[in-house]
Amino acid sequence: MPAAEIIRILDKAAYHKDMFLQTGHAIPRSLEGKRIVLAFFENSTRTRFSFEIAARNLGAVTLNFSASSSSVAKGESIVDTIRNLEAMEVDAFVIRHSSSGAADHISRITKKNVVNAGDGTHEHPTQALLDIFTLRDYFGAIENVKIMILGDILHSRVARSNIFGLTTLGAKVGICCPASLMPADSSSFGVQAFTSIDDAIRWADAAIVLRLQLERMTGGYIPSLDDYSLNYGLTDERLEKIRKHMLVLHPGPVNREIEISSNVADRIQPPGYSKSVMLEQVTNGVAVRTAVLEMLLADSDQPHSFKH
Ligand code: CP
Repeated sequence: MPAAEIIRILDKAAYHKDMFLQTGHAIPRSLEGKRIVLAFFENSTRTRFSFEIAARNLGAVTLNFSASSSSVAKGESIVDTIRNLEAMEVDAFVIRHSSSGAADHISRITKKNVVNAGDGTHEHPTQALLDIFTLRDYFGAIENVKIMILGDILHSRVARSNIFGLTTLGAKVGICCPASLMPADSSSFGVQAFTSIDDAIRWADAAIVLRLQLERMTGGYIPSLDDYSLNYGLTDERLEKIRKHMLVLHPGPVNREIEISSNVADRIQPPGYSKSVMLEQVTNGVAVRTAVLEMLLADSDQPHSFKH
């Protein structure tokens, strides 16, 4: 997605956030009569509920699909599932799936709009958009801001989408993790790679801390959780030692005391060397997803070019 398109979404999201604060709902209710399927084949709290709030604020009807209570549990394929839902004249699918490429695959078997709400270890575009929105809110602009992405880069769809979005907007991006969690192709990302968290903290203005994705790990990537926490956990002690103030983001859910200490995760104002905007991210997620749904679906029957 080009920079201008990202900026257009962020500006639209800013408008919706202001409207929510002033009126408590979206203006205009431009999706009245539209039906949006929230097809979450994998668990979610933040993404699912924020898409649901966004869609309802715009006047759309939401249809919640959960794999465990649908005919998927009886062996129906994802292709048949989507085709049957499409036959009920829905307008869009929001897809969360544990397989990389699932949203792209579904977009090829339906004429309806498809939004990727996180696919395997591949991408989580609206999470990156809300992270970038939050960073822009704090720093005023993204260009030349130094942002480190800390943690399980190898398994992180959030890292990949943020790297693409942030570098497109001119941010300087660093990734920091043990060598075992560094993607083999990291040199092609246009980012600075750190294996020392202290070096990364000295360099960065902000940290996007990632969850250690134990459910996606198929081998012994780290010696132990204690070892990981000791060497890569973002803690008060580490920030105080380096005397570096850090804006802290985390997409959630959080493994407290593993990738981040509770002190750092919960500190929203001074004193201290960190400021957490984790709950602001969640609020901004509603605004960003409102903008995405409106730009895809309002006043148009044609799928939009950024549907992936
Ligand atoms: N950040 C994120 O995707 O959270 P959920 O899995 O709760 O949606």
